[in-house]
Amino acid sequence: MKKFLSLILAIAIVACQSSENVQDTHERGLVVDKAMVVSAHPLASQVGKEIMQKGGNAVDAAVAVQFALAVVYPGAGNIGGGGFMMTRMADGSTNALDYREKAPAAGSRDMYIGETGEVIPQKSTRGHLAAGVPGSVAGFEAAHKKYGKLPWADLVQPAIDLAANGWKLTASEAGKLNRGKANFEKYNTVRPDFFMKDGDEKWVEGETVKIPEMAKTLTLIRDNGRDGFYKGETAQLIVEEMKRGGGIISLEDLKNYEAAWRTPISGKYRGYDFISMPPPSSGGIALAQLLQSVEPYNLSELGFHSQESIHLIVEAERRVYADRAAHLGDPDFFNVPMNGLLDKEYQSDRMSDFNPNKASSSEAVSAGAPAPAESEETTHLSVVDPMGNAVSVTTTLNGGMGSQVFVGGAGFLLNNEMDDFSVKPGTPNMYGLVGGEANAIQPGKRMLSSMTPSIVSKDGELFMVVGTPGGSTIITSVFQTIINVIDYDMGMQEAVSAPRFHHQWLPNVVMIEQAGIDSTSSLMSNLTAMGHQMISRGGIGRVDAILVLPNGKLEGGADHRGDDSAQGY
Ligand code: DON
Repeated sequence: MKKFLSLILAIAIVACQSSENVQDTHERGLVVDKAMVVSAHPLASQVGKEIMQKGGNAVDAAVAVQFALAVVYPGAGNIGGGGFMMTRMADGSTNALDYREKAPAAGSRDMYIGETGEVIPQKSTRGHLAAGVPGSVAGFEAAHKKYGKLPWADLVQPAIDLAANGWKLTASEAGKLNRGKANFEKYNTVRPDFFMKDGDEKWVEGETVKIPEMAKTLTLIRDNGRDGFYKGETAQLIVEEMKRGGGIISLEDLKNYEAAWRTPISGKYRGYDFISMPPPSSGGIALAQLLQSVEPYNLSELGFHSQESIHLIVEAERRVYADRAAHLGDPDFFNVPMNGLLDKEYQSDRMSDFNPNKASSSEAVSAGAPAPAESEETTHLSVVDPMGNAVSVTTTLNGGMGSQVFVGGAGFLLNNEMDDFSVKPGTPNMYGLVGGEANAIQPGKRMLSSMTPSIVSKDGELFMVVGTPGGSTIITSVFQTIINVIDYDMGMQEAVSAPRFHHQWLPNVVMIEQAGIDSTSSLMSNLTAMGHQMISRGGIGRVDAILVLPNGKLEGGADHRGDDSAQGY
């Protein structure tokens, strides 16, 4: 009898597997049973996986991964920057944590404008004055206090170990350090020896790097929580660095920094529920507006990357980014017309002049190529734990390596997030974004962000965790990844790998990934004939996402545009 039962069981398993094989035509990324982390660096993903194997939940893992990224992925992972965390716990409750940087108290509206009334080049993007008051460590502590299960020290320790014992550089990380050398030399008051080779020597793949100063700073944070950063030795080192380099962050600014819990932007799209980040990010509102704009159209019938669907999406993006420029800023300082922007009728009004055959015009067309001179580097991580809690985090120093300034003796980089303010109305920032009053600099105000950490659910069950870096392209990349799955029936890895395109109202161009869409194709010439100015460019975004499959397993989408890595069990 026992033998018979095992035979039946074996047949059932084979049948089940083969029916799964027959049904599932997707080219899947990593698929696991219980828990997953997808982040920009394999070592950071591994830290998150180990935290969950030790009994930590998704919030614990997300905090530990961010500390680890601050070491092994220093261009964007950070303790000297800020970010946003979206949570959806297994019971369906949701939350949004804002640990965005703030303008220092001594900051002022025209601080980057010279005597001629023009923006002083690079003043808001490089060096000490470009840094906002960091929010990351306050955010990590707030998240852990509210949701964490493991002791705080367990979340910091893996990063301390990496910084103290060293880690091996990937090829792309070695390249970044080599390319960064000139800026490190130019903008630092204390030479960051741990990242700088002498003479013509270069970093190579596989080489080990250690940052003892960072290990020390992290140890202070491990033992004292946020006070290990915002008070005492670290705060002192930050302020001394500011004094040496002409920056304005004060001890008061550091001591007063608080992260803020906010109500997520939530909405529905074709029967799916989504949550995303509210202001001071523009991400959640813009994502909701984009989804609302295209919902009346049958995208799946129009076809993936057909002329019709690209045109429709571009026209939706144009209108939404125009709203972003005018209406969005830090809600603690500016009255954001949230309900108006999220109103369905408003959206259909905005799309009412959509002409399926012709591009509309963005009022003033700024000339030239929009590609940012600054390398785009922020980072996103998605986590699902064995209990079904989900966390979506996007965190940033803004540009690659932020302000380029390391805090002398403390081993970490400061952000250049001040450039995300509208430093002068109508003048594009480093992502070509324009803004006005809503996003003008005021002391203590948070600069507007595009970061869009998001979570999608269906019928009360978790469906997708998604987000990306990419400056202004973040919103459109998250939007396109979501519709790739919902409308175009892609798996997670397929949706992440699929080529992307982007329009942001101004400049009036459609940027399109050259690796994915042939610039000489008839698709490109047909879109040009409709009145779109098409520009091919390098990779757009680095989406890291997790999809819950119909059988309950988790599929990771780790973006091949970087070293990104999905790990789980
Ligand atoms: O918050 C923002 O919108 C920007 N500071 C994000 C910068 C970014 O994504 C850079 N790159 N990938």
